[in-house]
Amino acid sequence: EKGTYPHYMLKEIDEQPYVIRNIISKYKTEDETIKLDEDIRQAMLGADRIYIIAAGTSNHAGLVGKQLIERIANKPVEVHIASEFLYNMPIVSEKPLFIFISQSGETADSRGVLVNVKEMGHKALTITNVPGSTLSREADYTLHTYAGPEIAVASTKAYTAQMAVLAILAVDTARAAGIDMNFDPLQELAIVANAMEVLTDQKEKMEQIARDYLSVTRNCFFIGRAADYFVCLEGALKLKEISYIQAEGFAGGELKHGTIALIEEGTPVIGLATQEHVNLSIRGNMKEVVARGASPCMISMEGLNDEDDQLVIPKVHEYLTPLVTVIPLQLLSYYAALHRECDVDKPRNLAKSVTVE
Ligand code: F6R
Repeated sequence: EKGTYPHYMLKEIDEQPYVIRNIISKYKTEDETIKLDEDIRQAMLGADRIYIIAAGTSNHAGLVGKQLIERIANKPVEVHIASEFLYNMPIVSEKPLFIFISQSGETADSRGVLVNVKEMGHKALTITNVPGSTLSREADYTLHTYAGPEIAVASTKAYTAQMAVLAILAVDTARAAGIDMNFDPLQELAIVANAMEVLTDQKEKMEQIARDYLSVTRNCFFIGRAADYFVCLEGALKLKEISYIQAEGFAGGELKHGTIALIEEGTPVIGLATQEHVNLSIRGNMKEVVARGASPCMISMEGLNDEDDQLVIPKVHEYLTPLVTVIPLQLLSYYAALHRECDVDKPRNLAKSVTVE
């Protein structure tokens, strides 16, 4: 039930800090280490390469997951769009592990790949919000995202939950492989949950930014580098699907290779800056679009912020910034859709789970 909330989407955005805390408690042992099936641990350790298969928002979580697994567990990961994988299959390594990420566990495109790779004799792990779903039953292993039912068509809490579980999985693999690191995902996720709360408490500010930048525009661009780029893809998808604004996410350096032609006086460009090593370069990219008339909206992380940034997010570990930066983007989409009188929870042409190919 949505209770006092006007829309499920807003309720689900607000639930994210609790979802993250729930995930921490579900994946924590009594002595504060990670609780995970030994089978899954061995499957991760034994794989020479991981293939993440997913669609839409879950695919965007996969992109962040790739970075987490590669940086933390030092294992190569490829991320594929489910509907493309079958028809344009890459060369698969000798000992692959397939990870399916799916909120619903029912996405036909992902299932098509699962059936195929099982026939090829490969192992599969499903990360899902619905244990007992098709993708969960048909895979060898399941990890539960514990986000609770997600009713709004636009995925919000399932996405952040997927990334949290991927971070835990990456660290578990690294520890099992004897890789030394000083990153405790359970502690760092607790900091993330608090940061999320700081942002969900700033709805008026988000509403105002949406009003200023998005209430009449035809289009909107999101730019970011490294982990921020992946969140840009998600921010753009969210905005498209519920507000019907033509939106695109770009790697910071890529917009100028063509799409910058679309920048006009007042075109909103939302920039993300949470990664220290690319802070200067993303700000340089922002200047390029501002010089063509864009209206810049900079969202940065504490410590990396400039005075005139529109929004500063609390500091969290650099690996986990996507879980936090996506919150203002979800809220901006929500308010943009509201101001434009769109049906937030049930956008046109969309279904909650896509069970046909
Ligand atoms: C976007 C959205 C979709 C889903 C996609 C995959 O807000 O909800 O892009 O993420 O259809 O769905 P699942 O995760 O259920 O496989």
